[in-house]
Amino acid sequence: MRIDIATLFPEICETYLGQSIVGRARNKGVFELYCHQIRDYAFDKHHRVDDTPYSERQGMLLLAEPIWQCYKAVVGERRPHVIYMSPRGKTLNQQRLKELASAGEDLFILCGHYEGVDQRVLDKLEAEEISVGDYVLTGGELPAMILADGVVRLLDGTLSQEDCFMDESHYSGLLEYPQYTKPQIWQDMPVPDILVSGHHANIMKWRREKSLEETYLKRPELLETAPLTDADRAYLSELRARYEDMPEFFNNK
Ligand SMILES: C[S@@+](CC[C@H](N)C(=O)[O-])C[C@H]1O[C@@H](n2cnc3c(N)ncnc32)[C@H](O)[C@@H]1O
Repeated sequence: MRIDIATLFPEICETYLGQSIVGRARNKGVFELYCHQIRDYAFDKHHRVDDTPYSERQGMLLLAEPIWQCYKAVVGERRPHVIYMSPRGKTLNQQRLKELASAGEDLFILCGHYEGVDQRVLDKLEAEEISVGDYVLTGGELPAMILADGVVRLLDGTLSQEDCFMDESHYSGLLEYPQYTKPQIWQDMPVPDILVSGHHANIMKWRREKSLEETYLKRPELLETAPLTDADRAYLSELRARYEDMPEFFNNK
């Protein structure tokens, strides 16, 4: 997969996406990343990339032409999937990341700034608008890095073992179970006995039940769409009965 990011701050994206797990994946050739300075494609002598909106609103909008020139120069004959990071977009979730990672298409990600981008270039690029949440940031760089990071960690070769992400929150519709590492007792708090029992089947059962419990307590609405087995449903009934006896737990949340 090749990811191109068009931004006024390419160095920010380069720095983050060059580090740690994502940076190593890039060095291994799992994906290619190129960050482009939109200003380099400005057509006037001052390299101007913004102007005032026609709607009599305050603030500035990114001009269509530098973005269009950047896109044309970057993609050539290729037809990557174009994404505009935008609070107006559909909220990003793990399912959309999975789809983007498995589609095998290159991505061209546009980061807005100021009050956003001239709508005409978004229409011309047929950009999918993706939001990272119902709040507004100053620029699309953090959202673009969130998207790129989330996609790249699902590509073959980024993580050492597939089950690193298959057990994680949201991958299969549930939240992850609690995790523990050494030492076995920390500040008088021991790791649950079952995790040091060496009994594989019991540990697997504990993991599933704790996932169900975390989801039930923190994000119960996820249970409506998560794929559940009969054993899961039976365990959820047990949980409901257990927590019904403690209504104060929910009231204090
Ligand atoms: C200040 S915002 C513009 C907000 C725009 N005027 C609106 O109300 O929808 C500037 C840029 O930051 C990015 N941005 C801000 N919040 C975002 C979010 N929640 N998700 C994705 N991108 C966001 C977008 O690229 C946007 O063009």
